[in-house]
Amino acid sequence: MKKRLYLDCAATSWPKAPGVAGAMAFYLTDVGCNVGHGAYQAAYDVGATVLDVRKRLCRMFGGPAPQNVVLTSGATHALNLVLNGLLRPGDRVVTSPMEHNSVLRPLHRLEARGVRVDYLACGQDGALLPGQAEALIGRDVRLVVLTHASNVCGTLMPIAKIGRLCRENGVFFCVDGAQTAGSIPIDMKAMGIDALALPGHKGLLGPQGVGALLLSDTISAAMEPLLTGGTGSRSDSLDMPDFLPDRFEAGTLNLPGIYGLQAALDWLEAQDGMALRDREIRLTGHLLARMRELEPDGLRVLGTFHAVDRVGIVSVDFPGLDNTKAAFRLEQNYGIQCRCGLHSAPLAHQTLGTFPQGTVRFSVGPFTRFEDIDYLQAAVCDIMEI
Ligand SMILES: Cc1ncc(COP(=O)(O)O)c(C=O)c1O
Repeated sequence: MKKRLYLDCAATSWPKAPGVAGAMAFYLTDVGCNVGHGAYQAAYDVGATVLDVRKRLCRMFGGPAPQNVVLTSGATHALNLVLNGLLRPGDRVVTSPMEHNSVLRPLHRLEARGVRVDYLACGQDGALLPGQAEALIGRDVRLVVLTHASNVCGTLMPIAKIGRLCRENGVFFCVDGAQTAGSIPIDMKAMGIDALALPGHKGLLGPQGVGALLLSDTISAAMEPLLTGGTGSRSDSLDMPDFLPDRFEAGTLNLPGIYGLQAALDWLEAQDGMALRDREIRLTGHLLARMRELEPDGLRVLGTFHAVDRVGIVSVDFPGLDNTKAAFRLEQNYGIQCRCGLHSAPLAHQTLGTFPQGTVRFSVGPFTRFEDIDYLQAAVCDIMEI
């Protein structure tokens, strides 16, 4: 069988945590019923599982309470709930050019409806430039929305510092935790975060189609629901319930996904989180070093050069070779699966100087081995004919 080396964990993690597939199969074959509507034991059991997932996410990310954990289809859904639910014409929002389209596109649409969007400037390594946050975040800002780490180059954003500034100025703070949840500790209360968007399918090692939005009481009280519909509660009223999480959870939840996510959280909680992050830093450092060895031959390596300041993502720009062709050959000749292009973050490439050609992105996870990186380097050398 052809070798398969999966280096696309930033898009979605694979393999999933042990137990995820089994838990989903268990739900689908042995449980199967909905939550909240059935007056029978199996439905209560499903409800207990859903509550358990809310409790664990709340504990893991320093949320206010389990009911403040709104279950979503992923980070995009969570971010849309906040941006469309909170911002009104005349509001000012501050963000960065390193955002994913799941932030940029909703903001672009809101801009057309009278919301003002300002961007914090970042350097060529994707890091926030000094003094930017202090200059732009003031009392007239309604919301700061920031990714915790760039999905293009992996560079981390100083969210604790921004959270402090937001708190001092009475500004809501929303963090896109898509690239960090599961690997870098996030504490909403300690970091002054009002809304935290999480995908279940990346660093949390769960299945696709499930995620969460953790909300502070103050931001949730200021938000309108994005979707309206059945919640299984207050069904006598045509208005959405005014309590959490029902206010923001219309329709049937992704229950197979929630069972899968519960199993993933089981696995993650049984690990030493510090050791996992330490390994990610060493593995990313190894990947960075191996790619930087090829810089004299023209390979451009993006992002900050300190592995502690990034997640497990390294993007490169091939010299004199179309990045799409490079990625194609890596897969065809070596079974290396990576991603090329703009990675849904066009403004990040303008900042990094890789627009419009984009980059080839390698991203690692807890199951990537150190020797996989050496294999990658040999393949990249071969493609560059060095
Ligand atoms: C930084 C960032 N934000 C948001 C998303 C969207 O996440 P989801 O696929 O869970 O909607 C991604 C996905 O790649 C991402 O990298």
